[in-house]
Amino acid sequence: MTKARARQITKAVIPAAGLGTRFLPATKATPKEMLPVVDKPAIQYVVEEAASAGLTDVLMITGRNKRPLEDHFDRAYELEELLVRKGDEAKLARVRESSDLATMHYVRQGDPKGLGHAVLCAEPHVADQPFAVLLGDDLIDPRDPLLAKMIDVQRELGGSVVALIEVAPEQAHLYGCAAVKPAEWHGTLGGDDEIVRITDLVEKPAEGEAPSNYAVIGRYVLDPTVFDVLRETPPGKNDEIQLTDALRVLAQRTPGRGGPVHGVLFKGRRYDTGDRGDYLRAIVRLACERDDLGPDFRTWLKELVGSGELDTLTGAE
Ligand code: UTP
Repeated sequence: MTKARARQITKAVIPAAGLGTRFLPATKATPKEMLPVVDKPAIQYVVEEAASAGLTDVLMITGRNKRPLEDHFDRAYELEELLVRKGDEAKLARVRESSDLATMHYVRQGDPKGLGHAVLCAEPHVADQPFAVLLGDDLIDPRDPLLAKMIDVQRELGGSVVALIEVAPEQAHLYGCAAVKPAEWHGTLGGDDEIVRITDLVEKPAEGEAPSNYAVIGRYVLDPTVFDVLRETPPGKNDEIQLTDALRVLAQRTPGRGGPVHGVLFKGRRYDTGDRGDYLRAIVRLACERDDLGPDFRTWLKELVGSGELDTLTGAE
């Protein structure tokens, strides 16, 4: 194992500069990452995930309207002082949770020219070490850890690692899709068939043209060579600089030149909180499972379903 590979990964990059147009008008003046999932903004789950995978340094790529993100991970002295005076320890702990998670840094993307461009904005901060990328609107259920395994795979195999889920063929055009083959190695991770070698990637393939049903989701562990490739990557789908296009180049490279790219197949619970339907599912699922809110909420939900009221709804905008 080379020295660079063995180095501990400590940095997480969280792109959160997208416009969130699927969630308008809620996202006209509020970043979509700040929309609450039960009682925490979606982005807090993501930073908590990074912290529990051992990442201590978080760089958030922000843009217009993203000020609330910075405030959320900062101390809130007036509020804290008030709660101290009231002796409300429980609420004080809730307020402080987000500012104690990691060392936070911010950089603005300026024009949202795509996810690849957002990642490139992290170069001065990340420099020459492997780093993790967590999309700010992708929520992985904390009970189904993924990132720590991806970090282990990167440490053992070098190159870059992406997270994959298996999707129905008719869903493949919504994602970056990967062509894969079995990974070959003899290390401690050998024999894990949830780790595959990626041979090709296509961003949002046309219907029927996906190389497989393996879709890339918003967790990556990247070799810093990705920055060189991104600089040379022309705008792709939607005229944006696509991270998938840069990873496609790395997937075809040899070790030492930024390759290879491996995929870790994720079978746990995950929600795209930038999508309205998935956002609602995340709230209902997580609320049902909460010790404090769950019992009452589940009772209400069971009554609603049992009442037959849902069967009579036809839906309106
Ligand atoms: P999305 O594809 O969800 O785009 O970006 P979006 O603009 O945020 O949302 P919609 O589609 O308009 O509703 C995936 C991730 O990449 C980030 C987003 O913040 C999100 O975490 N991103 C995207 C950037 O940081 N910069 C960009 O230029 C584009």
